[in-house]
Amino acid sequence: MTSFETRAAQLDAADPLAAHRAKFFGTDEATQSSTPGMPLAYFDGNSLGRPLAASMERIEDFMRSEWGTRLIRSWEEKWVDLPLELGDRIGAAALGAAAGQTLVADSTSVLMYKAARAALDARPGRTEIVLDTDNFPTDRYLMEGIAAERNMTLRWIEADPATGVTADQVSEVVSDKTALVLLSHVSYRSAFIADAPTITRIAHDAGALIIWDLSHSVGSVVVELDAWGVDFAVGCSYKYLCGGPGAPAWLYVRKDLQEQLRQPIQGWFGAKDMFLMGPGYQPAAGIRRFITGTSPVLGMQALIDPVELISEVGMPAIRAKSQLLTQYVIDFADEVLAPLNVTVSSPRDASIRGGHVIVNHPDMQEVNSRLWAEDIIPDYRDPHGLRLGLSPLSTSFSEVYLGLERVREVLLSLR
Ligand SMILES: Cc1ncc(COP(=O)(O)O)c(C=O)c1O
Repeated sequence: MTSFETRAAQLDAADPLAAHRAKFFGTDEATQSSTPGMPLAYFDGNSLGRPLAASMERIEDFMRSEWGTRLIRSWEEKWVDLPLELGDRIGAAALGAAAGQTLVADSTSVLMYKAARAALDARPGRTEIVLDTDNFPTDRYLMEGIAAERNMTLRWIEADPATGVTADQVSEVVSDKTALVLLSHVSYRSAFIADAPTITRIAHDAGALIIWDLSHSVGSVVVELDAWGVDFAVGCSYKYLCGGPGAPAWLYVRKDLQEQLRQPIQGWFGAKDMFLMGPGYQPAAGIRRFITGTSPVLGMQALIDPVELISEVGMPAIRAKSQLLTQYVIDFADEVLAPLNVTVSSPRDASIRGGHVIVNHPDMQEVNSRLWAEDIIPDYRDPHGLRLGLSPLSTSFSEVYLGLERVREVLLSLR
């Protein structure tokens, strides 16, 4: 055995989370060898998490006993409150959020739009939105659209793609004109973790509200929304929360802001006394007012068990394994891949590094295509980056070794 292979085996043997991997469909050798196309190494849990076997059973059971049997009666029996109940569970398990501040609905983009418009209305007379050039496209596109609708100015922070937005950069651009600051907590490219508590304070000192995009944070790094004093946070459920493709997203709105806010897409599911179907819209009390139309109940089913698992394991243990996984990749890249001209562009300081690592080489696009052809699944990000997402509950160190070793072999074959 080479040293990295040995180290992976040792890390797996010592891993307190190791037993959870088998709960995810497709992680056992029997399924891998009998199911054509099943990944041998999966590095995209930060893009689309693997499904839990329990979610498959839950969906079938849901179809038979809730949808199939109780039919419309289920709305009052279970479904009307599900977005808030599940939101509370996500809040408690992964966001450091007390109950009554998180809901599940829509997509990340739509929830971000609602939050941003509500925030701007709560800061009348202010004309600027602060954001950064390296934020995820949907965040940037949404703010461009909202700025055009509202005749507002976008104040762009030039983020270094290899790191991310710093507190000093935010301090330099916020002013008494700033209505809203929108940033990602973990950079989707480099995995740099922004200093959310400090930046939130800087936004508040300028009188602005802040929205954090936590799509790459939730279920991966420790988040303390209540303690940080965050106004809004939004994130998707299909990455580390393993809710499945297009799973409804979640939104956090700080309790004491909720009653002052009006969201822009007012629909009957977010109205007070929705079943009275009254003549005019009155928002429901609390976080429910951020719902618009009929809740995606089927889409929420696959989220229930992963959130339960995260709650059971606890974010500190998940984060501890995540740091070991990303460190293993960085050490492998430094020792084994660097002689092949591979560089690492994620932070080396584990305390400011999220759950993925980017390794760069001019041939990485070709490497990515070749690996996909043999069911080893990383992700390619321009320019020249191979993005390795390491979902702590479903990823083993040996799986990481297997994938990295193939990266080395493919790079050698391309020389
Ligand atoms: C940081 C970030 N924000 C938003 C999104 C996506 O938004 P939506 O769920 O609306 O497609 C992603 C998707 O990968 C993301 O990484």
